[in-house]
Amino acid sequence: MATLELGDTPLYYTDQGNGPAVIFIHGFPLTSALWQPQVDAFVAAGYRVIVPDLRGFGQTPVGQQTCGSMATYVHDLEALLQHLQLSTAAWVGLSMGGYILLELLAKKQAPATAGVLCFTRAGAESPEGRDKRDALIQRLHAEGPAAVQQSFAELLLAPAHKNQPSWQQRLQQVMGQPATAGMQQALEAMRDRQDSSSWLADIHCPCLVVCGAEDQIMPRQAAQDLAAGLPQGRCQELAGVGHLGNLEAPDVFNQTLLSFLQQAYPPAAKGSA
Ligand code: MLT
Repeated sequence: MATLELGDTPLYYTDQGNGPAVIFIHGFPLTSALWQPQVDAFVAAGYRVIVPDLRGFGQTPVGQQTCGSMATYVHDLEALLQHLQLSTAAWVGLSMGGYILLELLAKKQAPATAGVLCFTRAGAESPEGRDKRDALIQRLHAEGPAAVQQSFAELLLAPAHKNQPSWQQRLQQVMGQPATAGMQQALEAMRDRQDSSSWLADIHCPCLVVCGAEDQIMPRQAAQDLAAGLPQGRCQELAGVGHLGNLEAPDVFNQTLLSFLQQAYPPAAKGSA
């Protein structure tokens, strides 16, 4: 993995292939390993694939931030784009990665040619959701990161996958072993995230919203509302997958994203580096 010095921590990322850049942002409580089924397929399709570990996850240490906010992750990704001297990129964000991506696209903190918002939604956290995040933070301190990971692991996959030992093993690989501080910051950032629905009209690049027919975390309606609020948004549902459709059905997922990107941001596009 390569690193970028952010000031209070190095940011670890992988960077493979040539062509227009596509940056993949993982969700919670996950790492860059989540995107392993996408890397080779997108490189083979003519893209440069960049996959960071967000601060506090995978190999990237949490740094010295004291309170979690989406703006911190947005700032880190903006620094990555500048470090790589990219004039533009397409962005793919999954779940919490989608919350980050909406902020990044709406606030124009990084130039984008296209956005893919997977298994995510717009909007601030509800009062009940905020209480659940607080309860998880308490649990994190009482029982440790593995207990919080486990409570998410039960919801991440479609019912047909979730009780299979091979899938549980796969989940462990993509979740890694985060420190308490990194988990806490992400839970705080999700709890306190701003209401992005009022920003959607300001996101003018083509956007694809992907949802899973069996997602137990993000309802289909949330994806449809998100796509409807985006000036150039469209929603596509994947059958038979839960919250991690990129792992559960990688071929269909890759094909869906690649046919969107080949229109919105074809490999021959200029200005990718
Ligand atoms: C994620 O997958 O990033 C989280 O489940 C998002 C959330 O809890 O809101």
